[in-house]
Amino acid sequence: MNFEKLLGVGAEAYLYLIKWFDAEAIKKVRVPKKYRDSKLDLFIRTSRTIREAKLLTAARSIGVPTPTVYYVDTDDSTIIMEYIKGQRLKELFLSLNSLVQKEICLKIGELIALLHENGIIHGDLTTSNMILHGSGHIFLIDFGLGEFAYDIEARGVDLHLMMRALESTHYNIAKDCFNYILEGYSRISGVNISKLVLLKVNEIRSRGRYIRKRR
Ligand SMILES: Nc1ncnc2c1ncn2[C@@H]1O[C@H](COP(=O)(O)OP(=O)(O)O)[C@@H](O)[C@H]1O
Ligand SMILES: [Mg+2]
Repeated sequence: MNFEKLLGVGAEAYLYLIKWFDAEAIKKVRVPKKYRDSKLDLFIRTSRTIREAKLLTAARSIGVPTPTVYYVDTDDSTIIMEYIKGQRLKELFLSLNSLVQKEICLKIGELIALLHENGIIHGDLTTSNMILHGSGHIFLIDFGLGEFAYDIEARGVDLHLMMRALESTHYNIAKDCFNYILEGYSRISGVNISKLVLLKVNEIRSRGRYIRKRR
């Protein structure tokens, strides 16, 4: 490896742009957190690395665009994966006109439902973890907090996070966006499942309100 550029420091990892054979690639290294017990820290970093590599690969195999995993080193909590050239939806979203925003939200909903129908929970659905590729495809990244699960509770938690993320980053359009995401979701999962998942989202939301009120 003769070229390595630090792209950024994420919530739990350092991201480098590197050259992997002839291709540009991303190296994601989960770094130790000093406030965690060192054994626990190593366990968390290793398990999230393995989890992320497995989920990225599983998602890709069912047709959800994710970076191809090139290499995993569990000793160093490192994943080397395809570099997705594009813009993060977080930065891009507000600059788009409302029709394009709607199309993107519908697509996001379809992708989330496709994951869920195949027992894949993303675990951190935010617009920071979605990249609009030059091809027009939306890529999902950052599966380290995900899991394999089919139940409505897990689906609801996943979508609830999406809703919270929209509210915190794109407050003015969060409601419309979430409704379009749900519409996309029901195109894949069907109306009945979508209703159950939405009920769960609302239940989780009201639990949160209750906890906040009691503080
Ligand atoms: N495969 C990739 N292609 C392009 N950019 C990426 C890729 N993986 C990560 N990034 C960039 O690095 C940022 C942080 O990576 P991410 O996997 O989300 O780590 P964290 O867990 O620290 O949030 C992303 O928001 C994105 O901008
Ligand atoms: Mg992230």
